[in-house]
Amino acid sequence: MIKYNGSKKIKTAVFISGTGSNLKNLIKFSKQKNFPISINLIISNKFKAKGLIYGKIFKIKKKVFNFDNKIFTEKKILSLLVKNKIELICLAGFMKILSKSFIQKFNGKILNIHPSLLPKYKGLNTHARALKNHDKYSGCTVHLVNSKLDSGKIILQKKIKIYKNDNPSSLSKRILKHEHKLYPAAIKKLFY
Ligand code: GRF
Repeated sequence: MIKYNGSKKIKTAVFISGTGSNLKNLIKFSKQKNFPISINLIISNKFKAKGLIYGKIFKIKKKVFNFDNKIFTEKKILSLLVKNKIELICLAGFMKILSKSFIQKFNGKILNIHPSLLPKYKGLNTHARALKNHDKYSGCTVHLVNSKLDSGKIILQKKIKIYKNDNPSSLSKRILKHEHKLYPAAIKKLFY
């Protein structure tokens, strides 16, 4: 694992598909003097992803790829990552599953944030599933990405109480606030 040596920040690309609140938050943290990563590239599979606005606001290079031909697209992404000397990928609400071969090329250097207490509720609709099962707690997890969905090594996890009157939307909003603490904390834990 690469380590932060206190001067040269780890060049990072953030992959998004939607609102990009985690992206915005990571950008904010990356501006702190001792935070280990810099955000140098934003990649999206959606031309209309709201989060792309942060590329403009913070003057970070952004690029959108349609994934119609995944193998071809991933080759283009890889060469862009190499060209920009990217050392780490942070997935943040990225709704495409990357291929085994892509993940292997960045082995151990792809992080994801997932809105559940993994290994519970891999995949989509995590909040609705936790509510349906009358779980007392849900949460969020930052993990390394391996070739199996939401199954890589867990770096940090936050447990959050589910209230009686929660619905998927209220639960998702509350968990998202904790995601914004957890992702930077996991990055610090990994690279210091
Ligand atoms: C977050 O809940 C994240 O855990 C999940 O997708 C959501 C993305 O939110 N993978 P945002 O785009 O960062 O606001």
